[in-house]
Amino acid sequence: MAVLAALATSGATAQSAQRDDLGVEDRDRVARVTAPTRDFSRAETFETLPAGAGTTRKLVNADIFSHPSANLTFEGRQQFLVGNGLFRKDWVSAPSSTQASDGLGPLFNARSCQACHTKDGRGTVPGFDPLERTDAVALLLRLAVPPSTDEHRRLLASGELPFVPEPVYGSQLQNFAVAGLPAEGRLEIEYEPVAVALNGGETATLMKPVYRIEDPGYGPLRDDVQISPRLAPPMIGLGLLEAVHPADILANAAADHGDGISGRPNWVRDARSGQTALGRFNWKASQPTVEQQSAVAFSNDMGLSTPLFPSHYGECTAAQPACFDMPHGAQPRLGEHEVPGELMDFVTTYAVNLAVPQRRDVDDARVLAGKKLFYEANCVACHVPKYVTRRDAERPEHRFQLIWPYTDLLLHDMGEGLADGVSEGQASGSEWRTPPLWGIGLTRTVNPNATWLHDGRARTLLEAILWHGGEAQAARDRVVAMTPQQRADLIRFLESL
Ligand code: HEC
Ligand code: HEC
Repeated sequence: MAVLAALATSGATAQSAQRDDLGVEDRDRVARVTAPTRDFSRAETFETLPAGAGTTRKLVNADIFSHPSANLTFEGRQQFLVGNGLFRKDWVSAPSSTQASDGLGPLFNARSCQACHTKDGRGTVPGFDPLERTDAVALLLRLAVPPSTDEHRRLLASGELPFVPEPVYGSQLQNFAVAGLPAEGRLEIEYEPVAVALNGGETATLMKPVYRIEDPGYGPLRDDVQISPRLAPPMIGLGLLEAVHPADILANAAADHGDGISGRPNWVRDARSGQTALGRFNWKASQPTVEQQSAVAFSNDMGLSTPLFPSHYGECTAAQPACFDMPHGAQPRLGEHEVPGELMDFVTTYAVNLAVPQRRDVDDARVLAGKKLFYEANCVACHVPKYVTRRDAERPEHRFQLIWPYTDLLLHDMGEGLADGVSEGQASGSEWRTPPLWGIGLTRTVNPNATWLHDGRARTLLEAILWHGGEAQAARDRVVAMTPQQRADLIRFLESL
């Protein structure tokens, strides 16, 4: 606990810590190329390649998020292809005739990774029109209750628990179960339209969601249950985000820009090492590595065991004894886990190597005007444009690349409008991790029904911006005060990412 608390408050240490992978000369070089630009008259050098040498230049179509890093070795590509198959594969419940694919459940949210991460892009929410709702699975629900015992408080403080799970339903609502076992329930959403007047006589309509759980399969949920809906994010560029040096992230956390914006790291538990690590992934930066989040997905979303999370019963809780009576899919012939370590490695290689597409129209006058507005509105305080990845990154294809993800990977208080009251690790109920913006202009090319923000409530990029509050209130207000042409330029810039 002392360690976590000390790390969390050690702004001073963060400030003084320097990158240990570079000599003095390279540190200066990196500082020069990553300094914010002041010249908006033309595109910057290498700006068309957001993922450096890994950027994909393939034809833009619905498959544009599904290509491997362009600089991946031949061997890496072979592994990527196998991983791709596993990401797409539909798992089935045990026992089945296709023994190598069984073990799904007992409780689960989807049969495959791709069912939520549509074509490696973001998932689809059930829909805004009550008459046209789909049973989209990509919006999943975290479940938490307030801590009530000293043991709870100890586990939270030590980082062993990110939050206290609902005692019967666990930390996530599974809306499917294998035959013979009740599902945990389903999500109902109502949206309330809220009009926002913009300078220049325009109006935007935000959709304010209200969430409810229907048909609970294991009795009523606790009265004080808190629910946090999360939409499956896009999968591109994740290995490069893993290769951003912690010193670069912590430098942004320590920086005082005098604008009321102060990002915070989420220190979380690394299951492999048992150590505290910097959270980078998920909407609340709750996971330190792509591998760990992928193993969590196998366990919580699909009920499949991996070496990192070896229970065959996924998210069954002690209060759901029937769940533990169901057959599982581990077979002595194939090892002790439903997803053996070797397969897990293929999935990880795949998940860290989905390439970011090259930028379009970087020299277009409207795009450049929008880029200038993006800097002037101070979006860059959180959506930090550039980094050079570590020279000693684990995988060669991620080493020493100039990348443009537009995120600081830190938590920010985004205000009441986006808050859901569920804290996760050190992230409070109103804090969210700045999401990367690379590839965001191709969101609908990949998934025509995709929407934005942590729960997919924003139907347009403008709506996503207008939901910004808290530390981002001033940036949002600047967008409201822009002329219609300026707002269009800002959006045009985002669409070029
Ligand atoms: C039921 C839907 C669902 C399924 C199935 C699913 N995911 Fe996800 N995935 C999500 C959601 C939702 C998040 C964000 C979770 C959060 O913010 O807490 C996420 C986040 C991730 C992230 C972090 C991405 C980022 O930008 O931070 C990775 C990596 C990931 N999933 C990999 C996988 C893999 C690999 C599989 C299959 C083994 C998988 N997912 C299956 C819904 C799903
Ligand atoms: C204080 C930090 C901060 C500032 C300033 C900020 N953002 Fe964000 N931005 C965030 C966070 C955090 C989220 C995720 C919020 C959520 O999902 O609830 C986000 C989400 C977004 C999204 C949606 C991303 C997605 O994947 O769904 C867009 C687009 C965006 N911001 C654009 C902008 C623009 C344009 C500006 C400047 C006008 C801006 N942001 C200023 C922190 C910030």
